[in-house]
Amino acid sequence: MISFKKSFMRVRFYFPFVLLGVVFLFSSCYYDKEDVLYGTACDTSNVRFNVEIKNILNAHCAGCHSGNATGGMGIKLETYQEVKDAAENEMFLESVIRDNNPMPKNASRLSACKINQIRAWINQGMKEN
Ligand code: HEC
Repeated sequence: MISFKKSFMRVRFYFPFVLLGVVFLFSSCYYDKEDVLYGTACDTSNVRFNVEIKNILNAHCAGCHSGNATGGMGIKLETYQEVKDAAENEMFLESVIRDNNPMPKNASRLSACKINQIRAWINQGMKEN
């Protein structure tokens, strides 16, 4: 049997490696590689509700948050007003960037480009364009 002291020393020995592993894990699963992969720049200069934002919503959120969908607990993100309300109370951006239960629920996180477009649309005054 390993004495308490020995196993404690072992933990002390392995700890830096475990720490390194954790750091590596987090840095390697960083999401914003889309632009690099596809060679397209992420345009956040003029994010339009009816184009970029609608595309994101239709592709990633509508299945639960629009029409008669029941998967979104009645929360609707379909019309301009609904999305603007969610953006104003900070839930829209918050929901896609938080670590705990990010939206889209149970799916992979939005790309950094899409998250940046949402952020830009909000910062540009949530225009209905
Ligand atoms: C698979 C179904 C599903 C998809 C897809 C989905 N959601 Fe949700 N969403 C939910 C559910 C269910 C809730 C209720 C809270 C919970 O259970 O997490 C919710 C809650 C929310 C809320 C309000 C409360 C909260 O938890 O923050 C916002 C805002 C939201 N979703 C935004 C989005 C956005 C933006 C997308 C697309 C990028 C999206 N959701 C995609 C199911 C979904």
